[in-house]
Amino acid sequence: MRHLMSPLDLSVAELDELLDLASDIEKNPQKYAHACAGKKLATCFYEPSTRTRLSFEAAMLNLGGSVLGFASADSSSAAKGESVSDTIRVISCYADICAMRHPKEGAPLVAAQKSGIPVINAGDGGHQHPTQTLTDLLTIRSLKGRLDHMTIGLCGDLKFGRTVHSLINALIRYPGISFVLISPEELRIPDYIREDVLIKNHIPFREVERLEDAMPELDILYMTRVQRERFFNEEDYIRLKDFYILTRQKLNLAKEDLHVLHPLPRVNEISVEVDDDPRAAYFKQAQYGVYVRMALILTLLEWRD
Ligand code: CP
Repeated sequence: MRHLMSPLDLSVAELDELLDLASDIEKNPQKYAHACAGKKLATCFYEPSTRTRLSFEAAMLNLGGSVLGFASADSSSAAKGESVSDTIRVISCYADICAMRHPKEGAPLVAAQKSGIPVINAGDGGHQHPTQTLTDLLTIRSLKGRLDHMTIGLCGDLKFGRTVHSLINALIRYPGISFVLISPEELRIPDYIREDVLIKNHIPFREVERLEDAMPELDILYMTRVQRERFFNEEDYIRLKDFYILTRQKLNLAKEDLHVLHPLPRVNEISVEVDDDPRAAYFKQAQYGVYVRMALILTLLEWRD
C-alpha cells in the first residue's frame, strides 16, 4: 500500500506516468467514468479548504466513486480530543482512500503509519502540499509542453508558503531549471530550502525584492498569498499583505509566453484586471487539479486499464 506525503514519494518516471494519465483523463473522461465504482474517498480536513477538498471530491465522483468526510476539526471528534491515529484507524473501516489536511506538520504521516488505507497529504501546516505540486506540474507541462529548461519566478510568502517548498523540491529533478525568489526580507525562503535543497543540488537561483526586476526573464510566474494563518502577530501580516500586487502594468514587462500561476485563494496579490490576460492561468490550474487528483486516486488504488 502506498501513501503520498511529499511529491518526492514519486520517482520522476512515476510522476511522468501520473501526469500522462491525468492528460489522458482530460482528453477521454468517459473512459474513466466508472473506474472507481464501489470505492469511497474520505476527505478529513482539519483546516479550511475550497479547492483541495472539493477537487478531491469532484475527482472521486468523476471516477464513479463516492465521498464522505468532514470539513473542519470542529465538526469531527478531534473537538473531543480524538487523536489523528485513532481517527484514521476508524476511517479505514469506512473508506478505501483518505485525503487529509491538518495544521500540524507531519500529522498526515502519523496517520499513514496507522492507516489501513492509502493516505494522501492534502497540506500539513507550512510543510508540504504534494497534490498542489502535482497540479502545478500538470499545469506547467500542459501549457509549456515540458518541465525542463525554464526560469521560474516564485513570488510572495516564500517562508510559510508550503506550495512553494513542495514545487521547488519537485522541479529541481528536471534539467535546466532556475529560480528567481521574489519576496520581502521577512518572508524569504527558509534556510532548509535555500541551503539543503537549492545550494546543495547546485540549482541556479537569485533572490530579489522587486517583482519588476524579475519579470522580463520569467517563463512561469508563481504568485502566492501572504499566509495570514501562520503569522504570530496581525501587525506584521497587515504590513506585508499587500507587498506584491501583480497589475497589468507589471505584466507588460513580461514575455508574451509567460504563464501566471497561483495555487489560490487569491487575496489581493493579483489584480482582477489581470484575469482577462491570456497569460493568466490560475483558474485553468484549478481545473487541472481535478484531473491530477483523479490520476492520483487511480494510481494509489492500483487501478489497471
Ligand atoms: N490551493 C489550495 O490548497 O486551496 P484550498 O486551500 O482552497 O484547498
